[in-house]
Amino acid sequence: MSRSPTFPATDLHGWYVQAKRDLPWRRDPKPYKVWISEIMLQQTQVGNVIAYFLNFLRKFPSVSNLADAPESEVLSAWSGLGYYSRGRNLKKAAQVMMSEHSGKVPETFKELIKLPGIGPYTAGAIASIAFEQPLPILDGNVKRVLSRFYLETDEKKLWSAAESVVRSWHQRKGKPSEINQALMELGALICSPRAPKCSQCPLRKRCGAKDNSAAEFYPVGDRKLTTSKQSHALLLLERQCAAGQEFLLEQRSGSEPWLKGMWQFPIIPLAPKENFKLARCRGNVAKRFSSKLGQRIQVKRYLGKINHQITRYKLDLQVIRAELIGRQASLSSVYRWVPELELQQFAYSSILKKTLALAKN
Ligand code: ADE
Ligand code: SF4
Repeated sequence: MSRSPTFPATDLHGWYVQAKRDLPWRRDPKPYKVWISEIMLQQTQVGNVIAYFLNFLRKFPSVSNLADAPESEVLSAWSGLGYYSRGRNLKKAAQVMMSEHSGKVPETFKELIKLPGIGPYTAGAIASIAFEQPLPILDGNVKRVLSRFYLETDEKKLWSAAESVVRSWHQRKGKPSEINQALMELGALICSPRAPKCSQCPLRKRCGAKDNSAAEFYPVGDRKLTTSKQSHALLLLERQCAAGQEFLLEQRSGSEPWLKGMWQFPIIPLAPKENFKLARCRGNVAKRFSSKLGQRIQVKRYLGKINHQITRYKLDLQVIRAELIGRQASLSSVYRWVPELELQQFAYSSILKKTLALAKN
């Protein structure tokens, strides 16, 4: 930021007022709505969030509804958004709001950041958007805009830049909610990662990277986490019960890299070359499942493959249908048999849904 140009906040704001998207949490920015939307937007893009947001507000219209709801219902409304700890933390934070903040979303950064699921970025977003406090937001979009404008890549300096934009706007009687969202919106609509539309940009006159292939090089260090591929075998183990069929589910441990603590069909890792078309491989997998469960099983059929991306893992899951053989052992408490009709209660993960769909074919 050597010859730090003045930031054209008025031009940016003028652009925002006419270009901003009509998003449901912008229409009526009650703190509860701002909080829910900011949590959903942490790892999910605006386009994917809208339907979830509307549905979530229909089901849990207030802090007290959310605090009182069973966790399984909250997770079920979260189904498909991924990063389920966000859903769990929402409910926990709602309970803290009931017990310590008279059922309201607290207004200060200091109180907000103490709540489960809220870090510095989200605390700043809620405090500025819902309560008009002059605090910066530096998400990926804002970072890119400011980094290009100032030709600056240092994260600390970008935070100060975001802070000085919102402070001086506030001193001139502008609304922090608007200038912060204007920065985010510019990053989303104009100053895109690839091929920014500089010719339509309100910052163009003073921007360091405008019309310059340099734009695509800012910010550096903005690379997404690399994805990692994993292959697993997934066990659809069924048995008859009085009510019909029931299936075996396993609660994943809290130290797994994905779907921590969630109830799932049992899964074991596969070596990259293990191929389910070979009977030898299927026999081998059955053995590994048998020793994991402490119960002998026999593979009935290979149902096919599910591809699913979850957080940064690209999973392929080879699904086998199997039955118990030999004596029925009592299983450890991480397993439970669930009647087919009750599976819906556990079906908040897309993997479970995809497996059931595959089994129906
Ligand atoms: N990303 C995070 N918060 C946002 C908001 N309020 N509007 C648009 N995109 C966002
Ligand atoms: Fe981004 Fe181009 Fe606008 Fe600069 S002029 S902020 S690079 S869109």
